[in-house]
Amino acid sequence: MTGSPENEIYICRCEEVTREEILAAIADGATTVKGVKIRTEAGMGLCQGRTCRRLISQMLARTRPPSDIYPPTIRTPVRTAKIREYTNGEDDL
Ligand code: FES
Repeated sequence: MTGSPENEIYICRCEEVTREEILAAIADGATTVKGVKIRTEAGMGLCQGRTCRRLISQMLARTRPPSDIYPPTIRTPVRTAKIREYTNGEDDL
């Protein structure tokens, strides 16, 4: 597997994590998307895993029996909001 051109493709484009790095994380014992994320930082980029999460899940599914696959926990990206949006424009709280 190592050195193969297909292993050089980016699975996580935001963090520039290659297929080879994901496979190494799985070989290192990652059994969940979070486990791969901790080992490689895949899924921690600008899109917060929207692009790469499914690809990583598919790679995990190919290496694990279905009973060992756990759905990823997802936190939505944080967006700043002005307090005014919650108080209907009233400044006094
Ligand atoms: S592609 Fe992985 S975090 Fe964006």
